[in-house]
Amino acid sequence: MPFDIKKTVRPNILTLEPYRCARDDFKTGILLDANENTHGPALTELSKSEQVLELNRYPDPHQAELKQQIINFRNKKPNKFVKDIEANKLKIGNLCLGVGSDESIDMLLRCVCQPGKDKMLICPPTYGMYSICATVNDVEIVKLPLTTPGFQIDIEGIASKVTGDPNIKLVYLTSPGNPTGKLLAVADVIQLLEKVAPVWNGFVIVDEAYIDFTISPDSNYSESMSTLVNEHENLVVLQTLSKSFGLAGIRLGVTFCSEKLSYYLNSMKYPYNISSLTSDVAIRATGEETGLATMSKYVANIIEQRDQLLKNLLALDGVGNNIGGLDSNFLLVEIVDKDGKPSNEVAQALYNTLAVDNQVVVRFRGKELNCTGALRVSVGTEEENKILIEKFVKCLAEVRK
Ligand SMILES: Cc1ncc(COP(=O)(O)O)c(C=O)c1O
Repeated sequence: MPFDIKKTVRPNILTLEPYRCARDDFKTGILLDANENTHGPALTELSKSEQVLELNRYPDPHQAELKQQIINFRNKKPNKFVKDIEANKLKIGNLCLGVGSDESIDMLLRCVCQPGKDKMLICPPTYGMYSICATVNDVEIVKLPLTTPGFQIDIEGIASKVTGDPNIKLVYLTSPGNPTGKLLAVADVIQLLEKVAPVWNGFVIVDEAYIDFTISPDSNYSESMSTLVNEHENLVVLQTLSKSFGLAGIRLGVTFCSEKLSYYLNSMKYPYNISSLTSDVAIRATGEETGLATMSKYVANIIEQRDQLLKNLLALDGVGNNIGGLDSNFLLVEIVDKDGKPSNEVAQALYNTLAVDNQVVVRFRGKELNCTGALRVSVGTEEENKILIEKFVKCLAEVRK
């Protein structure tokens, strides 16, 4: 039973065809086909760029220009595990865009999992939205923890779970992980894909929200697995403009997958999910001249700041080990009690005091599996990090009295 997409996608989704509008065929002239307001947006003032965007019109449902820029960017640095780079280059047909990767996560669940019947596997500690989306869709969650130390996948464990239960249809992996900050070994994920493909009709999804923080500017290869989707039909990769591109506010997520799966995802998405404002900014951000260099510059800066911040945090009395990896734009550090033991009580008190009395907000993650006493700290600007350290010193002394 080799992997068969028709046995993986829900039968009702297999019957869908993409929504079509008159504008797919005719784009110019007097446009009276979509019941838009031809008199214009209800705003007393419009900036020049807003005028150009014609906000009274529906946005482009296909977003070909944006998709082309995204694949140009990823194709430039294929993953080193791609066997045939030329034949397997990403094409526009490999992409589906979503309202942040949160929409992409939900869309995959709705595409594949039958409510009340199918299941999805996650590897804690991991991103919380997978469980929320699964619960909303009435999809049972099966858990198989990341191995420790190192927060990597248990290849044999996952393979045995999914092959033992055909109702498990999706495996959600996060690389680099949240809250782990640790890149998964690409060789491990490929081993898993190859091991399960002949015997399991399901998808392995690799959420790469933080992938650009692992990219070394002087290498020809990227750690991103996005360029592997044409070699592994059971692989799906998610990315977002919310992190490295600094555009959490525009809500743009990207699903990379086989052209076959992408056809179904694009058929089920709401046709106008990407707004004209979002696509305008996203096109500028992913453009060679207009955004990519700035993204790389900020990423390099964040990495430099992250390393300095870690050094400063680890030097503090009350901060134990860095239990996460260094593949992301945040740190996961243990807060310890007076005996040097990781403590949720102290970490939670520190978290509260920092936020309530000192206006510094980090994230308590101590309740996540194998994260006892952990605080997750996003890397700030140089100035913010300086204040964070000062406040940490003051608050740690207070809560560890
Ligand atoms: C692993 C992971 N995936 C996805 C997201 C959500 O991304 P978006 O803003 O594109 O919805 C986050 C946000 O924190 C995340 O940590």
